[in-house]
Amino acid sequence: MFVADNYTAAILLRRREMEPVNVAKGGKAIPHPALRAPRIFADTATFNDIKPLFEAGIINGLTTNPTLLKKAGAKSWDEAKKIMKNLCDYLKPYPVSLELTELTQDKMIAQAEELRKLGENSVIKVPVGGYTAIDKALDPHTGLKVLRALWERDIRTNATLIFNSTQAYWAAQAGATYVSPFLGRLADFAYKNDNPERNPGNSLYRIDDHKNAKGDQNVSNTEYVASGGARKDIGIRLIREIAQVFANYDIKTEILAASFRNFAQVSEALQAGADILTVPSDILMKVADHPLSDAGMVSFVEDSKAFT
Ligand code: E4P
Repeated sequence: MFVADNYTAAILLRRREMEPVNVAKGGKAIPHPALRAPRIFADTATFNDIKPLFEAGIINGLTTNPTLLKKAGAKSWDEAKKIMKNLCDYLKPYPVSLELTELTQDKMIAQAEELRKLGENSVIKVPVGGYTAIDKALDPHTGLKVLRALWERDIRTNATLIFNSTQAYWAAQAGATYVSPFLGRLADFAYKNDNPERNPGNSLYRIDDHKNAKGDQNVSNTEYVASGGARKDIGIRLIREIAQVFANYDIKTEILAASFRNFAQVSEALQAGADILTVPSDILMKVADHPLSDAGMVSFVEDSKAFT
């Protein structure tokens, strides 16, 4: 399990400069104790999942992507836009991330302008890399160029599909408002692909043969390599690594931890220094629960019958 040691003053100072979240509206005698707590977003595009969480005050933002929109029933771009518009209206003024589906700079910028009109609270989600996996002829720096162009146009962005701190750093450098490290997919990948005879994490980090047969570098996460331990918590370590890099250089881009699979990862991301956590609705529905809370409530309610 990840343990957040060496929690530096620099990380704390960076958080102090973040926008306050729980602001009291006039006349409050008790200041809110968690003024700059990390914000929690729901990672879904399905309205019925969002409503109870928003009404409970558990979430103050949303992230969507093409997969989540498809799950929410969108069968065309117009339908997807309709869903995105409704979500922006419902959540406003809280941020709603809307992902670009175009793959070239000019078209992506035009699509960002189109999505921006869906709501003032829209945030444009830009895949940071992966373009040449779709078509070798595409520009590998498309995402970074679009992030910069949108920053120049005063459009807020969320750099998505981040799997190492270098990608996060370059996205911040390009002007991203948020970076989204996908911690759950990293953990999934390590669990699925690690070779049991070698150090855990070898599928991504290959500390003992950092070049493959073609001579390509395979080391993707320096912090993990340095840790050298038998761990599968590489997703969380990535959050910690980005938090440290951003603190070192006073980078205000917010770390939006994404791709959660369970409660343990939520707790670990809070320890690691994430600024925002975007969590699937089924996990958020259960955040107030614990089997021992259940047992405790049953006995307290039973005993309280003595007073009725
Ligand atoms: C983040 O913004 C993404 O929408 C999301 O967290 C991806 O998660 P997944 O790995 O469950 O698809």
